[in-house]
Amino acid sequence: MKLRIQCNCSNIDWNCVSDILKKVGMAYFEGEVHKKAFENSYTVVFVFDDEKLIGFGRAISDGIYQAAIYDVAVLPEYQGENMGKTIVNSILKSIPKCNFILYASPGKEAFYENLGFRKMKTGMALFYNAEKMHTRGFIE
Ligand SMILES: CC(C)(COP(=O)(O)OP(=O)(O)OC[C@H]1O[C@@H](n2cnc3c(N)ncnc32)[C@H](O)[C@@H]1OP(=O)(O)O)[C@@H](O)C(=O)NCCC(=O)NCCS
Repeated sequence: MKLRIQCNCSNIDWNCVSDILKKVGMAYFEGEVHKKAFENSYTVVFVFDDEKLIGFGRAISDGIYQAAIYDVAVLPEYQGENMGKTIVNSILKSIPKCNFILYASPGKEAFYENLGFRKMKTGMALFYNAEKMHTRGFIE
């Protein structure tokens, strides 16, 4: 394995981002939609094995004290090899002394707990597609 971490959006195959999100069961859109989302994010992290994109994550932020993490995904065949941890830690390092929030995919809470995250007691969300998010187990 020849790993490379990239923290900008240059030369990313956005259809590949969409494919990976689809493969791991996360929300996915046309490549162009992900391009906009990542380009408009404060921090982006992409991991490659040689030339192959194998994982990524991003954070939107004011760059000072508040940030939210989204789209953390690792290709199934590369999971369990610390890629997810590397992606999240490199997002955390990009904005020191900052608060980070996220909502874990149902069943993935322990992955974030392992990285120091704790469940929020007062977290609230207004989802565009609330019914879908309810069905998927994200909201009460
Ligand atoms: C969740 C995900 C990003 C984790 O990435 P990964 O590369 O498989 O995880 P890592 O190998 O970096 O694991 C880091 C640590 O978390 C633990 N961990 C990983 N997945 C876990 C899980 N589902 N539950 C509990 N612990 C988990 C590992 O055991 C490891 O522990 P250690 O540091 O004590 O050895 C990856 O499995 C994935 O892409 N899943 C599908 C998409 C998804 O659900 N993304 C999260 C959206 S919120």
